[in-house]
Amino acid sequence: MKTRTGILISGRGSNMASLIHAAGQPNYPAEIAIVISNHPDAPGLAIARKYGICVEVIANAAYGGDRGAHEAAIDTALRNADCTTVCLAGYMRLLTPFFVRRWEGSMLNIHPSLLPAFRGLNTHARALAAGVKIHGCTVHLVTEMMDEGPILAQAATPVLPDDTEASLAERVLALEHKIYPTALACHASGKPLPPPNKVRSLINPCISC
Ligand code: GRF
Repeated sequence: MKTRTGILISGRGSNMASLIHAAGQPNYPAEIAIVISNHPDAPGLAIARKYGICVEVIANAAYGGDRGAHEAAIDTALRNADCTTVCLAGYMRLLTPFFVRRWEGSMLNIHPSLLPAFRGLNTHARALAAGVKIHGCTVHLVTEMMDEGPILAQAATPVLPDDTEASLAERVLALEHKIYPTALACHASGKPLPPPNKVRSLINPCISC
């Protein structure tokens, strides 16, 4: 049986689209049961609808500052859709310990850096400013600390001398679209995880899962 997966988005939804696309393959071990956005105007919503995926907008604005109530509504929607796994795909809100504990071990996130380097925002600009020679992206399980948690997959690219924030972001995003579906497949099929924090190869692209 396929792992019913809910995807949380806030915006563009390109990682969401890569997961939906992968889940359309017959042998893929997960299916996308629902896409939930906290922004009514997230461009990713139209993409999900085009694929025929059940879509729900649960706008945080409607809950004022009550993060707990907002997350409880998301939790209910996920459970009503019989989800057992959640993928954060550009979901731009910090989650409370309540929600993280509810989905502990079953909630994945994609982050545009080689964690534990460059947690948080503006990762590509910070990578350029730091002068790193290798940059990339990480899929990890979500824990209470932001952008932490066991690493499921990473992919790396060299930073080129003439890279701009935009060119680096574009190359890393292409890697994100490869490793997120791979990581979800490993997770859903119960494959043993590789040793944590390990980028197995620096060949571009490298995928560790
Ligand atoms: C991606 O770079 C992802 O790593 C980060 O937010 C961005 C979302 O992009 N968490 P998209 O909405 O998937 O296109």
